[in-house]
Amino acid sequence: MADEDRGVGMSHEEAAGRLEDLRRAIRHHDYQYYVLDNPEVSDADYDQLMRELLRLEAAYPDLVSPDSPSQKVAGVAAATFSPVRHQTPLLSLENAYSVAELEAFDRRVHALVPGEDVRYVAELKIDGLSVALRYEDGVLVQAATRGDGEVGEDVTANVRTIKSVPKRLKSLGDRARGAISEAGDGWTIIVRGEVFMPVEAFEKVNRAREEAGEALFANPRNCAAGSLRQLDPKVTAGRELDAFLYEILHCDPPALAPSTHWETLRFLKELGFKTNPESTFCPDIGAVAEYCQSWDERRFDLPYETDGVVVKVDSLEQRARLGFRAKSPRWSIAFKYPAQKAETTVRDITVNVGRTGVLTPVAELEPVRLAGSTVSRASLHNEDIVREKDVRIGDTVIIQKAGEVIPEVVEVVAAKRTGDERVFEMPTRCPVCGALVVREPGEAAHRCTNGLACPAQVWESLIHFGSRDGMDIEGLGPKIIGQLLETGLIHDPAGLYKLTEEQLVEMERLGPKSAQNLVRAIDASRARPLNRLLYALGLRHVGDRAAYLLATHFGRLDRLAAASEDELQQVPEIGEKIAASIVEFFAREVNRDLVRRLAESGVNMTMPGAGEGAAVAGPGAGQGAGPGAGGGPDGQGPAVALPLAGLTFVLTGTLASIQRRDAEERIRALGGRPSSSVSKKTDYVVAGENPGSKLEKARELVASGQAPGLRIIGEDELKRLIGHA
Ligand code: IVH
Repeated sequence: MADEDRGVGMSHEEAAGRLEDLRRAIRHHDYQYYVLDNPEVSDADYDQLMRELLRLEAAYPDLVSPDSPSQKVAGVAAATFSPVRHQTPLLSLENAYSVAELEAFDRRVHALVPGEDVRYVAELKIDGLSVALRYEDGVLVQAATRGDGEVGEDVTANVRTIKSVPKRLKSLGDRARGAISEAGDGWTIIVRGEVFMPVEAFEKVNRAREEAGEALFANPRNCAAGSLRQLDPKVTAGRELDAFLYEILHCDPPALAPSTHWETLRFLKELGFKTNPESTFCPDIGAVAEYCQSWDERRFDLPYETDGVVVKVDSLEQRARLGFRAKSPRWSIAFKYPAQKAETTVRDITVNVGRTGVLTPVAELEPVRLAGSTVSRASLHNEDIVREKDVRIGDTVIIQKAGEVIPEVVEVVAAKRTGDERVFEMPTRCPVCGALVVREPGEAAHRCTNGLACPAQVWESLIHFGSRDGMDIEGLGPKIIGQLLETGLIHDPAGLYKLTEEQLVEMERLGPKSAQNLVRAIDASRARPLNRLLYALGLRHVGDRAAYLLATHFGRLDRLAAASEDELQQVPEIGEKIAASIVEFFAREVNRDLVRRLAESGVNMTMPGAGEGAAVAGPGAGQGAGPGAGGGPDGQGPAVALPLAGLTFVLTGTLASIQRRDAEERIRALGGRPSSSVSKKTDYVVAGENPGSKLEKARELVASGQAPGLRIIGEDELKRLIGHA
């Protein structure tokens, strides 16, 4: 074919080159998004690439290759889960960015079913991950991710941990029962839906990760993806995932399925699936446009994230005639809201000291309206993120809401730099108490080393102690806590239980009535069950679910405090990290003393219903248990973490200048834990000469993204860590 221009401003040869570039870029972004759960570009930027590809391919049909991303739904299945070939492909949707584009969609639909009425159903587009659930005779037998649309991953064990997904369906209505009895015995239904993470659960996961110095999830969708694609279903179970179901992909006998989408949603609900209550029947595209507009602002009030509206033709018979393109059905379109972003300036970068001493840099912003509220601060999380984004004091920045709730700095507008901006330095001393700040190996976070001698940590721990998920002490806000600490009336949570109304009325802005209420609220909190107390004490890695599991297993705080790491790990869902953290907590005299004083003040230390016999250690089981077990600190030392506390090391191969036994002893002495097998929980793999399969395994875990915190180091680096000459 001659090198001609087909209205796209380039020759055939140039188009071939550009197409190659576009395909490479799209494949790269697909991999980042679908496999690594780590998108590098916004949806809008990705769509722009895809649109350019489609436009060019339309102009040069001879250049369309069968493996072009336009010919296939994006994504590839990761090798770590068994592949599942979908019986019905899981297609994706074309996007519309304006009412005009919605109307164009409606015209295309009408042109294909001429002269007919077309009714629609409008549904919120849940920002999560598509899954296909297969039920045989009403029992969940398989759950698969979308993968590339044709082959997904088997995530049955993980999906079974999602509370809202029925493991067994409810009884069928008369119509469906009739269809089955006519067809014979068994019946199968495959439904499609969206697994997502509610915003509150996402924030909780990230708060815990921030405190633990772990990498944060960028948004609830990534957090949901990361949680669903965990090889260990225990991790998924602790993550509060949820799911809305919205399509029947396949059903046998076919007469089981209703004939419209609106009835399908009702049928799914009858079967026991969670369907989105906001879905609406729309007699025409005008009603669809109204629905989209009505959610433009309101969507920020929802407890989960949506990034648009999915519009679907209601009649399944019309759908069948409308059919599909290579990648998407002609009977549906996704209306996407523009990303909510705003430009502002960074007035300052301050440092917040959290409950566990983590120092968090915070951008103090010129206040700006964004997605339903005024934003004046945005967490910059840690030093690495400040460096990576190169945010400086005085910079003009673009901000957006991650999870539509938490403001974050997306990027610096480099073109607006004047040269007067100042580079931020992480302080070497705690900005609150002046104690030394350390960054532990393998952690992204800097921490104040002063423990509960740092007023900021005491203040944050008290806020946490009285919080709704903790001891739920109404009226005990951050301001009152600040005053109580400043006036020396309390030093820790036990002090709360000694407060009197007379002392409280002395506080600023606290009248006699409020003082009385606060004393009553504190008193009422004495009776909270053990799981709440345990959560309120704020042990590292012990969130509300772990606290509940531990409290029900042990029944009493003294039994939990005396348990060894091994005994703790017998509790379902409790892994190494949590177990080590509990042992470390109770090994410290200051913590044991706090618990003693709380008990003396009448705070409940038991779990109702857990029974007297809960987790009584069997004969001999107590040996090696209790404070100090598991290589933790000796319980008498200062409340400063040992440099390798909580870190797991695996040594492989021969070390040239240090005996393996000596190296392991030194790791233990510094609070670390030598281990013989590599897992995704391993922090360091030390490769000596002629390393074995452990190094291979570590490389695999790192390459597949399953162990983002795992570092492979050599002997020299190990020696530096353990201070060996
Ligand atoms: S219908 C062929 N309905 O959006 C039917 N999808 O961009 C396709 N999504 O991959 C799906 N909420 O993961 C549908 N109510 C909803 C949805 C929804 C979210 C996701 C789904 C799909 C993507 C398309």
